[in-house]
Amino acid sequence: MQLNPELSLFIGRFHPLFVHLPIGLLTFALVLQLVQWKRPADRIQGIASLLWLLAALSGGLSVLTGWLLSDGGDYEPTTLRNHKLGGIAVALLSFLVFLSFQGRKKTGVYAGIPFRLLLIVSAVAAMVLTGHWGGSLTHGASYLTEYAPLGKKDTGSQAATVNQVVRSLDSAYLFEDAVVPILQAKCVSCHNAEKKKGDYLLTSHAAILAGGKTGTGVVPGNLATSELYRRISLPKEHKEFMPTDGKTPLSEEQKAILEWWIETGAHQQQRISALAPGPRIKEQLTSFFQLDRESVAGYAAAPADPAAIRKLLEKGFQVNLLTKTAHLLEVKFNGNGNEHPDLGALAGIQDQLVWLQLENCQLKDASLPVLAALPNLYKLNINRNPVTDQGIAALDALKKLEYLNLYGTAITPAALPILEKMPALKKIYLWDTKINPALLDSNALRSPKLIL
Ligand code: HEC
Repeated sequence: MQLNPELSLFIGRFHPLFVHLPIGLLTFALVLQLVQWKRPADRIQGIASLLWLLAALSGGLSVLTGWLLSDGGDYEPTTLRNHKLGGIAVALLSFLVFLSFQGRKKTGVYAGIPFRLLLIVSAVAAMVLTGHWGGSLTHGASYLTEYAPLGKKDTGSQAATVNQVVRSLDSAYLFEDAVVPILQAKCVSCHNAEKKKGDYLLTSHAAILAGGKTGTGVVPGNLATSELYRRISLPKEHKEFMPTDGKTPLSEEQKAILEWWIETGAHQQQRISALAPGPRIKEQLTSFFQLDRESVAGYAAAPADPAAIRKLLEKGFQVNLLTKTAHLLEVKFNGNGNEHPDLGALAGIQDQLVWLQLENCQLKDASLPVLAALPNLYKLNINRNPVTDQGIAALDALKKLEYLNLYGTAITPAALPILEKMPALKKIYLWDTKINPALLDSNALRSPKLIL
């Protein structure tokens, strides 16, 4: 169903409320049916027929809300399918019972008592089974309101909320602020108190370490013997790969964070700063906590021209909206070593473009003046391109540029004075270039720029 996913979940989560209507109505109709057998009366028959109609309608409503709910969750697929089909059967059978009360001529449904009895028994059986399957699918608390449009978001969007709370890398805790939200987002739906797949609970530090059926989940400092790490590192097609069932795998960033957490001792309460993060993990954590988005916050643009965005998409760029209200855009192009992007198309969104990632796409010095003409660039990745010191010289026109990733380019120490002069630059990534890290340590740049 193509509704706004949050709205669809919000409506969907009323499913547990609606399903009790057909259950109640059906039970009531069943009682009336028994009374009717004892002493047949037209009036009871009339009421029973109405109850079956209402059961069919509320059954339909339950099916609809159930459908919306199932779109948003991690449910065991076989049980979900049974539950779905069962729910449809309850609604249809109830409607057939209703029709059977309307007389054969009007409806064409054979109205003989034995046939109606058969329909009623099937409807009740379907209801009992559907209820049972539904029960096995159910999750825990904060179920009904979690996705309410105005409600407070908690568990479901944990990753997003926690990310916003962390204001700086130095103050963040590795386990609580990064590891837990990752597991919450990708794993806990199948590894919680109610649904403990593989007998493995991922809801507390002790349980994560303890592991499940196979044994130890996480061995502090030892990736090789940590079952959790083995499961997330397998090829995606492997049947033991986690998360299973075609659920969205961990991103490279999330995987790197879990890996680093295990390597550094899988602590429960340790600040990231105390673990001396290296440049790569620092970048990954910064991006995970969305700390790199804050600087753009002060700047807002008019909405981009949809035609310009369409053109970029046609040329193979990825375009992401960074902030809805400020209309700022991030554009990515990964050339995988051979494809070269048509940079001219970027001019159409030059007001909105703040992040540009042109990775591994044969970008040469001659193309850099085109980038230097994008006035609002705040972050630029041109890593793994054959760019040299001459090209970099053009970039000093980027007065807002705070972040420049030059990893894997052909730049040399001669580029350092140029970088030094760029007014807003705060972070430069220079690993795997012709600049010797030892030189950087020796204070080649005077201003306190963060070189990683
Ligand atoms: C869709 C449900 C589902 C999701 C999501 C899921 N798992 Fe699992 N997990 C299972 C099932 C089922 C098993 C048991 C079968 C098996 O061992 O492969 C299991 C088993 C495991 C085991 C082995 C436990 C043991 O000791 O045998 C580990 C470790 C594990 N999961 C880790 C994870 C991690 C980490 C994530 C998140 C990245 C995750 N799982 C997400 C369903 C899931």
